[in-house]
Amino acid sequence: MKNDIKTTLVTKEELEQRVKAIGAQITEDYRGKELVLVGVLKGAFMFLGDLARSIEIPLEVDFMAVSSYGHSTVSSGVVKILKDLDLEIEGKDILIVEDIIDTGLTLSYLVNNLKSRGASSVKICTLLDKPERRKVQVEIKYKGFDIPDEFVVGYGIDYAEKYRNYPEVAVLKEETYNK
Ligand code: XMP
Ligand code: MG
Repeated sequence: MKNDIKTTLVTKEELEQRVKAIGAQITEDYRGKELVLVGVLKGAFMFLGDLARSIEIPLEVDFMAVSSYGHSTVSSGVVKILKDLDLEIEGKDILIVEDIIDTGLTLSYLVNNLKSRGASSVKICTLLDKPERRKVQVEIKYKGFDIPDEFVVGYGIDYAEKYRNYPEVAVLKEETYNK
């Protein structure tokens, strides 16, 4: 796997440190609230796992799956719910946990969708942000790292479903895409 990687954008140590810091901030901001972490599958699963362990207040966890890139590297702009929440979120304080914000289309759809179900608040926590690529404005409450407009893998993020287990955020070698 390591042979397929061109460069590392975010190291294991940087991830660990930043996730802990965000968790501490969320602990402070959401004390006394009805926090629900909503992970966007599949890319956010590892970030959510680490983040949840660094938050020191009781919380609920749920997941949604929406259509995004599929196996292509280009955003279609079409958002479809493939797996909906199991929990009722009326009156709850929702924190959407996402791997990457790119155009912003997925998140702006999700925020409006969850608000329309009567949540008390709906905020966004994203590990990575590609600000250059934004098409619609979204308000990000917690952010791990800004990254350049490159296709990344690792720490939950895939290329054609592979590399989610790579422990850093990295860019693949060109030849890997043609394998
Ligand atoms: P939008 O454009 O709606 O897209 O903000 C967000 C979703 O796109 C996926 N995404 C990526 N997935 N490597 C990936 O594997 C990438 O570099 C990348 N950039 C965006 C991501 O899943 C996110 O949910
Ligand atoms: Mg993805």
